[in-house]
Amino acid sequence: MRILVTGGAGYIGSHTALALLNSGHDVTVLDNFSNSVPEAICRVSELAGRRLQVIEADLGDPQTIKRALARTRPAAVIHFAGLKSVGESHSQPLRYFSNNLSGTLNLLNAMQETDLGRLIFSSSATVYGVPDEVPVKEDHSLSTTNPYGRTKLVGEQLLADLAASDVRWSFAVLRYFNPVGSHPSGRIGEDPRGTPSNLVPYVGRVAVGREPLVNIFGGDYPTPDGTGVRDYIHVEDLAAGHLAALEWVLQHSGIGVWNLGTGQGHSVLEVIRMYEQVSGQRIPRRIVARRQGDVSSSYADPAKAERELGWTARQGLREMIEDHWRWQSRNPMGYGG
Ligand code: NAD
Ligand code: UFG
Repeated sequence: MRILVTGGAGYIGSHTALALLNSGHDVTVLDNFSNSVPEAICRVSELAGRRLQVIEADLGDPQTIKRALARTRPAAVIHFAGLKSVGESHSQPLRYFSNNLSGTLNLLNAMQETDLGRLIFSSSATVYGVPDEVPVKEDHSLSTTNPYGRTKLVGEQLLADLAASDVRWSFAVLRYFNPVGSHPSGRIGEDPRGTPSNLVPYVGRVAVGREPLVNIFGGDYPTPDGTGVRDYIHVEDLAAGHLAALEWVLQHSGIGVWNLGTGQGHSVLEVIRMYEQVSGQRIPRRIVARRQGDVSSSYADPAKAERELGWTARQGLREMIEDHWRWQSRNPMGYGG
């Protein structure tokens, strides 16, 4: 089957594209390379031992999207393309609404016009706002504290409206917790532009000497060691979650929503200590003020995905960090060198 992967040159998309190729699917990546580089695709192809089709296009261009769908006729679309920085979304909300929401609408319109109905949507645990309780289940109330999160919440809502309007639609909404790690080869991985805002990429840069120290945002949270707790999930497990969701959209109509997390929370200090153990590098750190908008503790109840998709995360924090370190130490400047 051919699967169209929007944003397939990006971090999660490249790992999922590889998993699809390794499962025998044909892959078309559609990406504008606004936050990725073609080299990622070359490496996916090298790891898979076969080629994938690449369409350089922007989801803001409806005609090109429609032509791409009409030409490739994918069995399903996995929709990763989007901007993802919470901080940037506060300063450039319109850019986030245009890129993420108009992009999704253009894609859905093009799918309708070409009579294609199956899509997997990248959502985020950010739609739970400040969780009332952890672990978080899918029926937890939804709210968001930032424009990026709003693009995910509205994206989910418009998919629900479409699914209710016509049985030909089939949507899997996947709420990722905190994706980290990389393919065990160390050939593909997360390569943020500029200074990373996420914890693990930042710690990795400290470990290779590109940043002097880690600022720990808050040491006074109501958590066992006072630092924020998150559900870190290996990107390879996340990719496997997309393959499981693909089976679901091929066999069902309507909409399903699943958390993709491990169910385990780890604190910032635990992550830093694990990185020190795995890399053998000392990671200087200091506790600074809380980062605005951060929640104390967020981790998933992944039981619904296990029950309905037969998917469960297999890898723990050590494996995630080992694989991140392999990528980081072999590619200290990312794909650029
Ligand atoms: P990424 O930035 O590495 O990948 C996104 C890809 O989409 C990039 O290759 C980028 O060039 C492309 N893209 C962006 N806008 C586009 C457009 N208008 N047209 C065509 N291509 C476009 O991000 P990622 O970490 O791989 O995230 C993938 C998806 O998962 C995003 O939708 C993100 O919001 C969501 N998500 C990510 C995380 C995370 O922590 N990484 C957590 C929850 C949800
Ligand atoms: N942290 C630090 N120092 C840093 C970076 C992060 O202490 O330099 C802490 C944060 O305060 C938090 C934890 O490390 O406690 C994880 O932070 P990340 O930025 O890695 O991840 P977040 O949980 O804040 O954000 C992730 C995704 C967002 C998504 C959000 C909501 O990156 O896209 O989850 O669930 F919106």
